[in-house]
Amino acid sequence: MKNYFSIQDIDSLDHWVKEAIELKKDPLANQNLGKNKTLGLLFFNPSLRTRLSTQKAAMNLGMNIIVMNFTGEGWALEYEDGSIMNQGDSEQVKEAAQVVSQYCDVLAIRAFAKLEDKEEDYEEKVLKSFIKYATIPIVNMESATGHPLQALTDAITITEHKNENKPKIVLSWAPHPKALPQAVANSFVEMVQRMDAHFVITHPVGFELASQITKEVPIDYNQENALKDADFVYVKNWSSYHDYGKTSDNPGWKITSEKMSLTNNGKFMHCLPVRRNVVVEDAVLDSENSIVIEQANNRTYAAQLVLKKILED
Ligand code: CP
Repeated sequence: MKNYFSIQDIDSLDHWVKEAIELKKDPLANQNLGKNKTLGLLFFNPSLRTRLSTQKAAMNLGMNIIVMNFTGEGWALEYEDGSIMNQGDSEQVKEAAQVVSQYCDVLAIRAFAKLEDKEEDYEEKVLKSFIKYATIPIVNMESATGHPLQALTDAITITEHKNENKPKIVLSWAPHPKALPQAVANSFVEMVQRMDAHFVITHPVGFELASQITKEVPIDYNQENALKDADFVYVKNWSSYHDYGKTSDNPGWKITSEKMSLTNNGKFMHCLPVRRNVVVEDAVLDSENSIVIEQANNRTYAAQLVLKKILED
């Protein structure tokens, strides 16, 4: 595998999930695979889980790791070909990507959507420029439109916890004080479409995700109706795709114990970080049915599987 840019880079989700679950049983089994190899991590945005779990994954494979936070530390990068660089940006991605490729064997990048211009965000300028100019494999640690490491994690977690062959999975929009990208929801939707599941998306009118991503997945604008008999409730805020980057409080969409009681003893999932008592009330997050901490633990094995596949290639 050359790059891990999106869920489409997974050839067989079933096989990948099985392999990740095996790898979790003996995480140090491939400690020589990454010996004398260096993973570079470039962050254009903050992180807790992605940063630490990807480092842990690389360490489990015996890799060396270099981390750089671009915000406040790196040169501001220019992405337009042929631009006259007499404004704020100091370095073209063309040079930056080639230079970093000489220091590393694999490069992982986080670069969120700016939520100002839909076309620009959905072009994936940062990740795609690095893919174009770097001479080493690139891993997406959450880009403008996707978070495929999170989605692979979620597939592993659902597989570990499911009691039904074909569980009911509900992706529910939830309130948030800030406008957030669609990346996590997009990759989750793409991933669940590849699983054997009854899948429903619920959100307020106006918060439809891109139809090229949701395709035929049913949308129920009535959250309580959608939650009925759910085995997994995956909760996430995203800002509007159509009225791009706009958000709304909608406190009535918060996940409560009362709403969870409509489910089939459903598991509560969230990629974290989560705003308590805005997105979800304490009683749900602290309940036995909340699997968010185990979900975050699986970030290591999703990242480790992706790095392992790249190193084996
Ligand atoms: N879920 C997730 O990507 O967490 P971080 O933003 O902390 O990396």
